[in-house]
Amino acid sequence: MDYAEVYLKKNRREAVSEKSPWIFSGAIEAVREFDADGQLCRIYMGQDVVATGYINTQTNIAVRVLAFGEAEINPAFFAGRFEQSRRMKESLLAGCTDAYRLIHAEGDNLPGLVVDKFGDYLVFQSSTAGMDHLRGMVIEALESVFSPAGILEKSSSASRRTEGLEPISRVHSGTIPDEVVVEEYGLKYAVDLLGGQKTGFFLDQRENRQIIARYARGRTALNCYCYSATMGLCMRNAGVATLHNVDISEDALKLAARNYELNGIVPGEGEFQAADVKQLLGEIPKDYYDLIVLDPPKFTASKRTVDAAIKGYKHINMTALRKIRSGGLLFTFSCSGLIDAELFRKIIFYAAKDAGRDVRIVRQLSADVDHALSVYHRENEYLKGLMLYVV
Ligand SMILES: C[S@@+](CC[C@H](N)C(=O)[O-])C[C@H]1O[C@@H](n2cnc3c(N)ncnc32)[C@H](O)[C@@H]1O
Repeated sequence: MDYAEVYLKKNRREAVSEKSPWIFSGAIEAVREFDADGQLCRIYMGQDVVATGYINTQTNIAVRVLAFGEAEINPAFFAGRFEQSRRMKESLLAGCTDAYRLIHAEGDNLPGLVVDKFGDYLVFQSSTAGMDHLRGMVIEALESVFSPAGILEKSSSASRRTEGLEPISRVHSGTIPDEVVVEEYGLKYAVDLLGGQKTGFFLDQRENRQIIARYARGRTALNCYCYSATMGLCMRNAGVATLHNVDISEDALKLAARNYELNGIVPGEGEFQAADVKQLLGEIPKDYYDLIVLDPPKFTASKRTVDAAIKGYKHINMTALRKIRSGGLLFTFSCSGLIDAELFRKIIFYAAKDAGRDVRIVRQLSADVDHALSVYHRENEYLKGLMLYVV
């Protein structure tokens, strides 16, 4: 594949010297040898190649850097990165699970690519035209490093639209069964790779499931936006007294029921409820629960809808806080990248104030260790949470 040549403006050296994986269009003086968007490119400062990446002239983030300096982008390059990430993730999660995020895009120095490993199966997502062009190399490298039983692509992120790309769902090698069972801290979970949400399972909440379970014993708990009730299952395992798992999706609740079955746990009356959380929260009597989890879907993917998302988060948190008994706990999350930790904390401040509750932040929560962040790039820090004690 031929590389385009991208020349940076003389006064924009920081575009590469600060090691950000994104180069914005405003930093570029000229582009030569350009054939198509998504093409590999070498980035020049004067005569020197300072980085290697791929280019999209249609987007504000014009170049995403794959390596600083001159690198050959080929299957061996990807295999090296996959090996490096595997070493890191498997050492951090040794003995905990056979399912983890192998590649977390910029966090693992591969912008535009997410790869999740579920036992012997791999699921990847490409979110850029550049990574779409490199798909063949990604698959070849995954094959050589892991010899997986199947490789599935589920490229459906909202950002593909910005890049002018259609969603893609395709099995590239092997076969993908309807159900893959993975283990996490001794519990079994059914993962629906083909039909499930995201890449099939919320790996990012692994550690938070353990933290929530630690405080669940003997409590009356409400697990809102439960998906496959992984947090609920951990609470049941830890001896929660009463539990209600709520999700709007009947398919998610079927997976939840399957997870209970896999672990030999029999659900109690009303333990799975198909409902709109916002509506249900409004109907619950005051001071009813002593533990609530709020793990809603992304409320905003665009700057235009941030204000509406702020209102949405504030409303559900305020309502939930009113339904918690004195001495109770709220575990509240946001996976909207555009709502940063500072803003989320402000939203919780207003929710507590308007609920008229005295609330303490006892823990700050984030995605688990396989969702690494590059110190040079804050933008893919998306999951944030707070453990709140209601006085
Ligand atoms: C981020 S996921 C929850 C992940 C889950 N806590 C876990 O760890 O596996 C968000 C869930 O919210 C559900 N959902 C979306 N809108 C909802 C609504 N209005 N009421 C109830 N559930 C909703 C989705 O079906 C999805 O399962």
